[in-house]
Amino acid sequence: MYKIIQKRQLNSQVHLIEFEAKDLAMAASAGQFVILRVDEFGERFPLTLYDFDCENGTITVVCQAIGVSTRKLCALSQGDSVLDISGPLGRSEQVQNVGKVIFVGGGVGTAEVYPIAKAMKQAGNDVTVIIGFRTKDLIICEQEIKRICDNLYITTDDGSYGRKGFVTDILKELLAKDSYDLVFAIGPLVMMKSVSGVTKLKSIKTIVSLNSIMIDGTGMCGGCRIKYNEQAKFTCVDGPAFDGHLVDYDDIILRQGRFKNKEEQSTKHYEHKCQIKLK
Ligand SMILES: Cc1cc2nc3c(=O)[nH]c(=O)nc-3n(C[C@H](O)[C@H](O)[C@H](O)COP(=O)(O)OP(=O)(O)OC[C@H]3O[C@@H](n4cnc5c(N)ncnc54)[C@H](O)[C@@H]3O)c2cc1C
Ligand code: FES
Repeated sequence: MYKIIQKRQLNSQVHLIEFEAKDLAMAASAGQFVILRVDEFGERFPLTLYDFDCENGTITVVCQAIGVSTRKLCALSQGDSVLDISGPLGRSEQVQNVGKVIFVGGGVGTAEVYPIAKAMKQAGNDVTVIIGFRTKDLIICEQEIKRICDNLYITTDDGSYGRKGFVTDILKELLAKDSYDLVFAIGPLVMMKSVSGVTKLKSIKTIVSLNSIMIDGTGMCGGCRIKYNEQAKFTCVDGPAFDGHLVDYDDIILRQGRFKNKEEQSTKHYEHKCQIKLK
C-alpha cells in the first residue's frame, strides 16, 4: 500500500498527488514512469514521475482524470492509500549538458516536461520552455516551471493568458531568431508530430515522449508497440522517449483510435481530453 501524503487540485481535471514511497523515490530518475492500481478491482495505468524526493522518501505524480481509473485515483484524499505502484519503469532520460534546449509541453504533458527540464537545467543547459493550453483555467505548473528554466512562454488557444495561438508558433519564432541544440516535446500526438515537422526542417535533434496505451509495462504484451524507423519498438521498455524524427505518428494515432468509441475518436473529444486545440 502507498499512502497519499499530499493532494492538490491544479485545474478542474488535473490533480497533483504525492505518495510515501521510499523504495520508488530511491530508484527513480527523470523521464521514468510508474504503473498504479488504486484497489483490487482497479486497472493498472501509467503515470509519469513528476517529482521524487529521496530524502523524504516520496514520489509525486500529476494525473488528469479522464477515465475510470484516473477518476478513481483523483477522487482519493490525503491519508488514503493505493494498492500498488510498480516502477520506476521505462528508460531514464539522458541528462547531459548539450547547450540550448527548448521544451514544449501541451496540456497535461506540461507536468511530464517539468522533471526533465529541471534535470537538464541542473546539468547546466540553457532551458527555454513553451507550454500550451486551450484556455487560462487549464494552465498547470506555471510557477514550478518558471523556477527551473531561463525563459517560459505560455500560449492559450483563446488568448485568455499568454500569447494567443499554438506552441508551434512560438517554437518557429525562436528557431528563426537563434540556434538551439535540442528540442524536447511532450503532449498530444498531433502536437509532437507538428513539433517534429518544424525541427526536422532545421535539422535539430528532437525527443518526444510517447504515452501509448500500456498493459503490463514490461515488454511482454505488445500493447504499447509503435513503428519507429521502420522497426517495431515497445514504448514501455524502449521508451517512453524516442527520436521524434523517426516516429511514425500516423500509425500510433490509428492504433490509439482502435481503443476509442466513435464519439471519442472525434477531434473535439481528443482536444478536450488533451486540454489543447489541435491545428
Ligand atoms: C508512459 C506514460 C506516461 C503517462 N503519464 C501520464 C501523466 O503523467 N499524467 C496523466 O494524466 N496521464 C498520463 N498518461 C496517460 C494515462 O496513463 C491515461 O490517461 C490512463 O491510462 C487512462 O486510464 P483511465 O482508466 O482513467 O481511462 P480509460 O477509461 O481507460 O480511458 C479514457 C480515455 O483515455 C484514453 N486513453 C487511455 N489510456 C491512454 C493513454 N495511455 N494515452 C492516451 N489516451 C489514453 C482512452 O482511449 C479513452 O479515450 C501516461 C501514459 C503513459 C503510457
Ligand atoms: S505495455 Fe506491454 S509491451 Fe509495453
